[in-house]
Amino acid sequence: MTEMIEEAIKYIRQQGSFHAEVAVILGSGLGNFTESLARPTRIPFTGIPGFPTSTVKGHAGEMIHGYLGDRPLLVNSGRVHFYEGYTLDQVIYPIQILHALGVEHLLITNAAGSIRKAHPPGELLLITKLLNLTGRSIYAGEEEPGSIFHEDTLSLVQKTAERAGVALRNGVYAGLNGPSYETPAEIRFLRLKGADAVGMSTVHESLAAHRLGMNVVALSCLTNYAAGILDQPLDHQEVIDTSLRVQNDFSRLVSEVVKTLAG
Ligand code: HPA
Repeated sequence: MTEMIEEAIKYIRQQGSFHAEVAVILGSGLGNFTESLARPTRIPFTGIPGFPTSTVKGHAGEMIHGYLGDRPLLVNSGRVHFYEGYTLDQVIYPIQILHALGVEHLLITNAAGSIRKAHPPGELLLITKLLNLTGRSIYAGEEEPGSIFHEDTLSLVQKTAERAGVALRNGVYAGLNGPSYETPAEIRFLRLKGADAVGMSTVHESLAAHRLGMNVVALSCLTNYAAGILDQPLDHQEVIDTSLRVQNDFSRLVSEVVKTLAG
């Protein structure tokens, strides 16, 4: 463990137990899940040594320890992105912290653009594969692992969604750096390459968690049709509006998946 991580863990433990086997990372506008946590203890990211803090609207930026029923849970509400100017090390630092706190199962969520007309905004998607199109990797110089998400976990999460009565698609997530949304031509390219959703997060976090030996699940909230699918420009407000519209279903799904992962 680096000195900075040790310092961060010491600081976090001074604020409370912050022990849990399961953690959730909440993306843009998906923060209302935290309201279902009992006995929450909150630490602003700004207080944690070395922790990167986001500049994006809709990212609150705090680590919360709380309980779902009697199950302890850690939640990172907010994250940073590469396009904000952070290094790869900074983007994955929160994952290292969660791992150092004892997390074994990580549920990553994000807002993503839908690349398929048949998957309208508001639908939720379970990521089965990643396309790392960021041009960067924590596996620099090595082969990136082909399967981050375990078959058994994927089918467990699908069953959980069915039981909860929440529609959940399967799909491939293409991770790009941003900072802009894509061009219609890029989206056509991604569709031809087999992507179903596109976004600017999740790829490095998933790879880092996998490398640290965590069991990783990633869910996308499809917040908008990607560029060129409709004859209208994209804007960040639609991303926020859609996530707010589906946040109840989304939160319920996250709760149920957490319970499944906690066993
Ligand atoms: N493209 C990239 N990232 C996104 C999108 C999109 O359309 N929607 C939400 N995040």
